Amino acid sequence: MKKDFFGSSTILITGGTGSWGNELTRQLLEKYNPKQIRIYSRGEQRQVEMKRRFQDDRIQYYIGDVRDKDRLIMVMNGVDYVFHLAALKHVPVCEENPWEAVKTNIIGTQNIIEVAIENKVKKVIDVSTDKAVDPFNLYGVTKACGEKLVIAANLIDDTKFVCIRGGNVMGTNGSVIPLFKEQLFRLNEITITDEGMTRFLMRVEEAIELVLNAAVNSVGGEVFVMRTPACKIINLAKVLINKLGDKNSKIKHIGIRPGEKLFEVLVSKYEMPMTFEIDEYFVILPQIKIKRIEDFYKGKLNVRIGLEEFNSNNTHMLSQKEIESLLERDGWFNLNYKNEATNYLRSLNEKDLKRFFVSEGWVRK
Ligand SMILES: NC(=O)c1ccc[n+]([C@@H]2O[C@H](COP(=O)([O-])OP(=O)(O)OC[C@H]3O[C@@H](n4cnc5c(N)ncnc54)[C@H](OP(=O)(O)O)[C@@H]3O)[C@@H](O)[C@H]2O)c1
Repeated sequence: MKKDFFGSSTILITGGTGSWGNELTRQLLEKYNPKQIRIYSRGEQRQVEMKRRFQDDRIQYYIGDVRDKDRLIMVMNGVDYVFHLAALKHVPVCEENPWEAVKTNIIGTQNIIEVAIENKVKKVIDVSTDKAVDPFNLYGVTKACGEKLVIAANLIDDTKFVCIRGGNVMGTNGSVIPLFKEQLFRLNEITITDEGMTRFLMRVEEAIELVLNAAVNSVGGEVFVMRTPACKIINLAKVLINKLGDKNSKIKHIGIRPGEKLFEVLVSKYEMPMTFEIDEYFVILPQIKIKRIEDFYKGKLNVRIGLEEFNSNNTHMLSQKEIESLLERDGWFNLNYKNEATNYLRSLNEKDLKRFFVSEGWVRK
């Protein structure tokens, strides 16, 4: 990767205080030496925590909402690159507050596009999700609209826009790993929605490598996808029980939750004819005509990938041993392991934890 790519650049990260934002900030500071990183998010507490963690005066913190275009105009002044991570991303929250999800994930994204163009930003990198492919829940629908807005923005002016699509990242806010661990510690059981459920599984470090790779190598107009492995959720539960449970630990089946799919798709069958592979990445070319994409990727689509679609059932399926070593690597079997998601669950008393499990659909009332 070109290490001097962001040298002397000013970078804005919307949603910079989240799981991806923290790791992106770490990798940018350690590997690329940018001039300045601007973190943009609503909540002051997470900004204070991030400030304590990094203690680096190349980072500037800005309170703001992606819905607020005037604030974005101020904060994006002089910015070279924008990583757009801010989103409402909890499936049930988006289902129950649909217009709020539209305002943040769609209108917020359009604000980023318009302000980036006005400010002559060089490139905007939008982070999307497998849930945006053949979307079934509103979170996925809003992220799919975000992708379409971002790709079409390449037709407007010189600012380049690119998307990356990620599968589930281990241990982030909303991930099942901290949740299963807490269920095991407090209730000695793990609730599984469906025996056949599979999910892509990636480490946050790898997800950010994909984001940076796309930022550096894209010409604008592509969607980058990583060839991510997947696991059966039941096997993830079994590994956690083997390592952290005892002979009384149980797996309870509760049935599929509203808005959930049995497996996720990262490249749909409709996109496959416009997709090619480089190293461990898929690059999806746009449905609309973008001249520089056609010139740059000429001939690339001649090599067929040989998959009807790329989903969490036809990718490499991690064995229990492989899941164990992934979790081990990030310290998930360490009893004192802490991150934002585990800290939150740990802070709940028994009654509130039960309420949390019910409200998220992990146990029936
Ligand atoms: N985690 C995954 O497994 C995964 C997988 C694929 C794609 N993604 C995508 O990756 C991105 C980051 O996810 P994450 O896991 O890092 O999420 P996260 O930990 O929940 O962080 C979300 C960030 O967005 C900020 N935010 C939310 N609403 C905002 C608004 N209206 N204006 C400004 N900032 C706002 C949050 O801070 P405040 O709440 O303080 O504003 C926080 O900094 C999202 O776009 C998500 O769709 C995540």
